[in-house]
Amino acid sequence: MKVNSHHYQTIYMEGNSVFMIDQNALPFEFRIYEAKDYRDTCHAIRSMITRGAGAIGAAAGFGMAQAFLEFWISDFGLIDFKTDLNANTGLIFTAQGIDSIIRDGYIQKCIQARKEIEATRPTARNLFYATEKVFEAGLISPEAAYSEAQRLAAENVADAMKIGEYGNSIIKDGFRILTHCNAGWLGFVDYGSALSPIYTAHRQGKNIHVYADETRPRSQGARLTAWELFNEGVPHTLVPDNAGAYLMSKGMIDMVIVGADRIAANGDTANKIGTFEKAIIAGQFGIPFYIAAPLSTFDLSIADGSQIVIEQREEEEVHYQQGPDDEGVIRRIRVSSPGSPALNPAFDVTPAQWITGIITEKGVINPDALAIKKVVG
Ligand code: MRU
Repeated sequence: MKVNSHHYQTIYMEGNSVFMIDQNALPFEFRIYEAKDYRDTCHAIRSMITRGAGAIGAAAGFGMAQAFLEFWISDFGLIDFKTDLNANTGLIFTAQGIDSIIRDGYIQKCIQARKEIEATRPTARNLFYATEKVFEAGLISPEAAYSEAQRLAAENVADAMKIGEYGNSIIKDGFRILTHCNAGWLGFVDYGSALSPIYTAHRQGKNIHVYADETRPRSQGARLTAWELFNEGVPHTLVPDNAGAYLMSKGMIDMVIVGADRIAANGDTANKIGTFEKAIIAGQFGIPFYIAAPLSTFDLSIADGSQIVIEQREEEEVHYQQGPDDEGVIRRIRVSSPGSPALNPAFDVTPAQWITGIITEKGVINPDALAIKKVVG
């Protein structure tokens, strides 16, 4: 997507570094964070420099590739990957002829790195999907790990575009759409999940209007979704998190589309805290409630949403907000009464019964076990 007429992707890897748009700085400052090794990448995921299921999936894949490359270099010292990988010379790395004890030590370090990456954030399935795939490729060679991480990032973009097409087919001209959190291009490598159909509909000339929940406590809606929609020229209005019932009861919403962090085999879906209540309200008023997510978000190893691990984040995020004052100086201010404890679950689970359909890169799926198994496998 474009920022000041320049095409950016949320996250990309060049040489041994991973570059990501610093989402903690947006919308007040646009800057790129460089993660020089997998530890930096872990830091970026944990601190939400990069965030959103699709983006952290790509970050985890790149981080895993960084680990394979780093440990290969430190143990075998064979590659100048800064030049070789970028030039795509086709250089083949092989563990053949390398002492098996040293190779075992190398693999152990990569296993440890995988554990560290997987410990950064527990809920989004995409993160684990990526570490698994890149780790398997890394057992062949570090170059294979690198190629797999790049392939996953490209797949992430392609899936998001398809989601845009399928989602657009159910958006009618004149629709007013409510969304929660940020499932836009910042939450993916590009295009997004929930916002991708909106971008496609807008580009095709449909007259749509988006209502974006602010999404406390980290305000992904107010900071990121609003910024994305503004940049793309999509008509939109920011609303307080607790305005959903009002808007829907007044007939101001035709459809809700949100993203997903993990979808269980029966269609129960974890997404940003506050999603579940929007689904219930939509159900109350007979408004279609859609989830948009690629197949890499599905977790068929869990039967239902009760088994999804919900990340609990620091109280500080509830007590404090950050942003520029009238002079443009970024300040952190307290917004709660000192002394009161706070609870900060990052996600909730919407039971499948409240979901109208799941928009994927393979089409719109019914949120039931049979339909999901048929498409996801
Ligand atoms: O805590 P975040 O900002 O990573 O949570 C993101 C969400 O819940 C998104 O709605 C979700 O990942 C959908 S796809 C980007």
